[in-house]
Amino acid sequence: MTDPVNIGRRDLLRGAVVLVPVASVLGGCSSTDSPAPERFVHGVASGDPLPDAVILWTRVTAGDGSGPIDAEWEVAEDPEMTKRVVNGVAKTDASRDFCVKVDVRGLQPGKTYYYRFRALGGTSKVGRTRTAPSGAVSHLRLALVACASYAHGYFHGYRAISRMLDLDAVIHLGDYIYEYGDGEYGEVRQYEPSHEILTLADYRMRHAQYKRDPDLQELHRQHVFITIWDDHETANDAYKDGAENHSDTEGSYAERKAAARHAYMEWMPIREQETEEKIFRKLAFGDLADLVLLDTRLYARSKQAGGAIGAPPAPDPTRTLLGDEQAAWMEGQLKASTAHWKLLGQQVMLGNLILDKGKQIANLDQWHGYPESRDRLLTFFRDSGVKDIVVLTGDIHSSWANEIVFDPNDATKYDPATSKGSLAVEFVTPGIGSPGIPEIFLGLIEQTRPINPHVRYIEPSHRGFLILDVTRDRIQGAWHLFDDITTPEPVSPKFSAAWSVKSGETRLVAEQQPAPSIEGASPAAP
Ligand SMILES: [Fe+2]
Repeated sequence: MTDPVNIGRRDLLRGAVVLVPVASVLGGCSSTDSPAPERFVHGVASGDPLPDAVILWTRVTAGDGSGPIDAEWEVAEDPEMTKRVVNGVAKTDASRDFCVKVDVRGLQPGKTYYYRFRALGGTSKVGRTRTAPSGAVSHLRLALVACASYAHGYFHGYRAISRMLDLDAVIHLGDYIYEYGDGEYGEVRQYEPSHEILTLADYRMRHAQYKRDPDLQELHRQHVFITIWDDHETANDAYKDGAENHSDTEGSYAERKAAARHAYMEWMPIREQETEEKIFRKLAFGDLADLVLLDTRLYARSKQAGGAIGAPPAPDPTRTLLGDEQAAWMEGQLKASTAHWKLLGQQVMLGNLILDKGKQIANLDQWHGYPESRDRLLTFFRDSGVKDIVVLTGDIHSSWANEIVFDPNDATKYDPATSKGSLAVEFVTPGIGSPGIPEIFLGLIEQTRPINPHVRYIEPSHRGFLILDVTRDRIQGAWHLFDDITTPEPVSPKFSAAWSVKSGETRLVAEQQPAPSIEGASPAAP
């Protein structure tokens, strides 16, 4: 594809550098190497940590579009890259849009590493990553993010998280990119390409634009990511065979979905599974937590039964959110887990928001709109014997702490005073860039608080992120929110709320302060 970066005269003059012998390119860092980050304008990233492995990612800005290109990578124990532990060479070319993805093995668990790439005479900035811990683990800190509409403003949340050096990982719950064209959803920043993205070239160009955002780039550089897609990585309100924001005049949906997934696999630091269609997977954090990640969007989801608000659909056993294969896989993972906490990372809200008690009016894009799938999941929560399940959610551009119940207004099924009947808890992270719930609905949400007693916390309007602090005794979710993201000058978030659930319980409790950061974190990548 043609990358939107302008390759100027300076780059042409660098042609001489391209011609240096491969041996010297691969021969390690010499003191005469001068950093040429313009070969890596999309930065560096890492993802999917295992106790002994991590995915390293970059893209080589090749300039003339030729290939194949050798990209040397190296991993070290120190930010100065003097204590190198492993290195190698990966090849890339136009067929993968010059992206480089390496599954580095042989690392130590629960350890921070530093890495960089070298290609075509240029050296990338140093990135910082971290393997998953193994064995006995007492403490984890994870940032949860979602929904980064570029057009609505600046990613101050990403920048703020990049400075929190005590995190084990950043979990991105989807809507990493948005598919819209200019003026269709947000007007603060312009998109590349300016039109709605439809083709592989379009999706690649949009990913490339996001990867050049300085705040997102810095977050990738400082932290390891764990990602799943939501709808906007393809198109709004996507499901298996279509999307709200896809019409026949835009061509084949199947081809569009395949292009979106292909670009995602190229451009994201995700470990590739058996097929590009499959992103549901499990990652482990020693004996403290298993993270089971779902795809409620593209893999098997039936078409929504209506728009954002409506009555739940009539029973129809053919409708599904996960599909049988994925649901059975998830249940198997949860049952087999020996970890203390079971974290379920997924896209759409599981807690029902009931807007009319008599009619059970709901958001039909969420679990509430798929009653058979929801009943199967909640029945599993109730009957499987699996305890300490915490659901992690994005998608809805607002902050929520929910107790998960069959029916919050049925006294035989749920007692809000004691939380009896709560089967699990859910933490929902707000948008990084995408705007909150439209003002027109705020009055309605406030009015319906009494019939939604399982919703312990809601902040409907502000962008921000959530820090999940995990110990054996409890998990705390703390929301950090921004007043405004429409100006580029960095701003700091404000602590908004913290809620926690104790081990062995399913009751959310308000806390006054966010958990303190962990001392002694490894230094930032320089
Ligand atoms: Fe979103």
